[in-house]
Amino acid sequence: MSDIEIRTLADTEWRASLGLFRAALHAVPPTDEQWAVGSRSYEPGRTLGAFCGDTLAGTAFAWSSDLLVPGGAVVPMAAVTRVGVRSDFRRRGVLSELMRRQLADIADRGEVLAALRPTEPLIYGRFGYGQATRGAKTVAVPGNALLRPEVPSGGRVRLVTPAEALAVMPGIYERVGRSRPGTMARPSYWWTVAYERAFAADEHIIIAVHSGPDGDDGYLMYRPTPGALPGTNATLAVDDFVAATPDAVYGLWRFLLSVDLVDEVTVWTRPTDEPIAEALTDPRAITSAEHRSDLWLRLVDVPKALAAREYGPATVVLEVEDSLLPGNSGAYRLTPDGVTRTTATPDLSLSVDVLAMLYLGTWRASALTAIGRIQELTPGATTKADALFAVPEASWCGTFF
Ligand SMILES: CC(C)(COP(=O)(O)OP(=O)(O)OC[C@H]1O[C@@H](n2cnc3c(N)ncnc32)[C@H](O)[C@@H]1OP(=O)(O)O)[C@@H](O)C(=O)NCCC(=O)NCCS
Repeated sequence: MSDIEIRTLADTEWRASLGLFRAALHAVPPTDEQWAVGSRSYEPGRTLGAFCGDTLAGTAFAWSSDLLVPGGAVVPMAAVTRVGVRSDFRRRGVLSELMRRQLADIADRGEVLAALRPTEPLIYGRFGYGQATRGAKTVAVPGNALLRPEVPSGGRVRLVTPAEALAVMPGIYERVGRSRPGTMARPSYWWTVAYERAFAADEHIIIAVHSGPDGDDGYLMYRPTPGALPGTNATLAVDDFVAATPDAVYGLWRFLLSVDLVDEVTVWTRPTDEPIAEALTDPRAITSAEHRSDLWLRLVDVPKALAAREYGPATVVLEVEDSLLPGNSGAYRLTPDGVTRTTATPDLSLSVDVLAMLYLGTWRASALTAIGRIQELTPGATTKADALFAVPEASWCGTFF
């Protein structure tokens, strides 16, 4: 469709953008009270509007963030969110125009990666995004879930007020929240929308902070839902669980499982290799399921992204195809000593969305070759790529945005 104009929205237009996004998710526009907080979550210059004539038909937004990649480097990243198209303008290419323009803007800013968490995974592969991390959703029945005696007992856990929570959580996240590849910077705007907004709306959320010998080293946020009768069948849903050391992780689990009058505890995401079931006397008291939609990544600057991470002991030439950002297309030689563009014959061929699935080591190249997402051009190259991209512990994001 040629009559779509994309431009950066002025701050006076952000509220209309949020209203459009909320309508796309079947929610009502923000009230004055909600907007008083919500307006502070907009980073200037990063809201796009798609206009058909005078009508705002679609919108997309991003925060400036960064991502920890294998080896410990931190890479500039746009955290894309609040994407929506008016239901009477859908399937006319509005999203496609927004995505094209947003990726061009991200590249102009020098951001190496873009990331999002899709409501529907079917949509974003065509724009070069691929699922780059997985997270385990865990459901526990506290009455049956007893931690084994040798599991670290942890330190002290205290409940804090909203004011104290806002004062301590960002610092704890910065200190301990980014131990794994896939974890991202949480900009101040994120804290506004994730917590200030919820506190201002008097949402029923509880923050529990864990302290070890060196001070506060973890926290979790949960939403209690009471049962039909007072004191019966309550559930706790943990939306944010930040801890890195075994003491903090299992100290917080111990606390969670000990809250009285609770039938079920759900932790929506933790790393997939954390052995919580094995930490219990009866592993059947807990079930874990993988979340399909964890972090989706887009390598916007493929040479810089590939050069930023560490590699295992193998050498492979990858041929990457990127129809949206064709400057990325071409062959790359990846070795533990570095990455170079090359004219050598490629060993493996893949599109840029599949490269995003390999990038943090979440998917094995051999698994993706088996389902036809990667083409093996040199026999045995897939096994080398497995060794090249392997990571010592599972990558994980843990931040919803
Ligand atoms: C999803 C949404 C953004 C798509 O916008 P749109 O302007 O209709 O998308 P486009 O017309 O540019 O379509 C682009 C392509 O994606 C496909 N597509 C779009 N929405 C899709 C969906 N929900 N499921 C499967 N494919 C979809 C289109 O068929 C089209 O495919 P093509 O390139 O092969 O022709 C819009 O429908 C919407 O706002 N939905 C509700 C809110 C939402 O899900 N937001 C995303 C938050 S992460």
